[in-house]
Amino acid sequence: MKYGNVLVTGGAGFLGSQLLQRLVTKAKHVYVIDDLSTGNRASLPKAANLTFYEDSITNEKLLETVLPKVEWIFHLACRNLVLSAQDLRSDLDVNLLGGFLLLQKAKDYCPNLKRFVYTSTASVYGNASTIPTPESYYRITLPYSASKFSAEHYCQVFYHMYNLPVTILRFSNVYGPGQLSSNPYCGVIAKFFEAIMSGDPIIIYDDGTQTRDFTFVEDAIDAVIAASTHPTTVGKVYNIGTGTETRINQLADTVIQIMGYKAYPTRFLPGREVDKVYRRAVDPTALQTDIAWSARYSIQEGIAKTYHWLKGGGSV
Ligand SMILES: NC(=O)c1ccc[n+]([C@@H]2O[C@H](COP(=O)([O-])OP(=O)(O)OC[C@H]3O[C@@H](n4cnc5c(N)ncnc54)[C@H](O)[C@@H]3O)[C@@H](O)[C@H]2O)c1
Repeated sequence: MKYGNVLVTGGAGFLGSQLLQRLVTKAKHVYVIDDLSTGNRASLPKAANLTFYEDSITNEKLLETVLPKVEWIFHLACRNLVLSAQDLRSDLDVNLLGGFLLLQKAKDYCPNLKRFVYTSTASVYGNASTIPTPESYYRITLPYSASKFSAEHYCQVFYHMYNLPVTILRFSNVYGPGQLSSNPYCGVIAKFFEAIMSGDPIIIYDDGTQTRDFTFVEDAIDAVIAASTHPTTVGKVYNIGTGTETRINQLADTVIQIMGYKAYPTRFLPGREVDKVYRRAVDPTALQTDIAWSARYSIQEGIAKTYHWLKGGGSV
């Protein structure tokens, strides 16, 4: 067994639930805190060694009860990019204050803490002028980027002041099995699949020439697991991505083809405030160099696996 007792915040969400699938077999006991604001209770694995608290990470009393029991913390709970732009105050409360409280309580209540993994985001790069973008770059223009980036800084503060063993992982557009289109804020790939499966046109914001670096969920979770136990990653920040740009139009074509269509109706809408990033690809070489992690799945392979899962094949 690799882990003792662990806490996963946001465990009922997309990435949290996929991480839990792995952790319930590797950890002694898994505690999950999720307020189900966007997560789904049904996404939690059914396991005898899992305890679920439907509550907020800002509940200090709950943190004081759970944290003394755990040795690993995986902090994934968040207000997402879209919600954060609609309600800046709750973005600040959950993403920044929530992250700060977890760090502070981890320092005070986790005498045997082995690692605090914070899942951050490539959104801290905004509309980057350097592609693929290294970890040293930042351009903050949205509330989500501001709160997530600020929480990263607090991770560094707790590492430098109190030796709290933090590791920060910046994900770039993760997709794949477990991403539920019932969550209105799910990623673009889940939305494309949902549109075609319901016979609706695909919606593309802007002209579809904008790019993103899409990371298959298995690769992302492999990175979390590997980074959470490797001694080299303490106190560091890493990109989790492929380094490859995919245009949204290309992505739509790939989904359309994998679903067996030659062409499919597509509607173009004006870009939303949160979409104003023209190019994105993150530079993943730091994590490759430090722990030999690299993404294994191409976008075609990842989309094919996602379709297989949507058709009912394979477990989440
Ligand atoms: N999915 C991606 O492409 C992606 C990209 C970059 C970064 N990330 C980061 O990865 C993490 C997980 O993202 P995800 O895609 O699984 O998002 P998600 O929305 O599916 O999951 C987030 C979970 O946090 C829960 N939550 C929200 N507020 C909470 C609170 N106050 N207390 C407790 N739980 C709360 C939600 O109910 C949800 O289950 C986040 O920190 C996010 O910033 C994800």
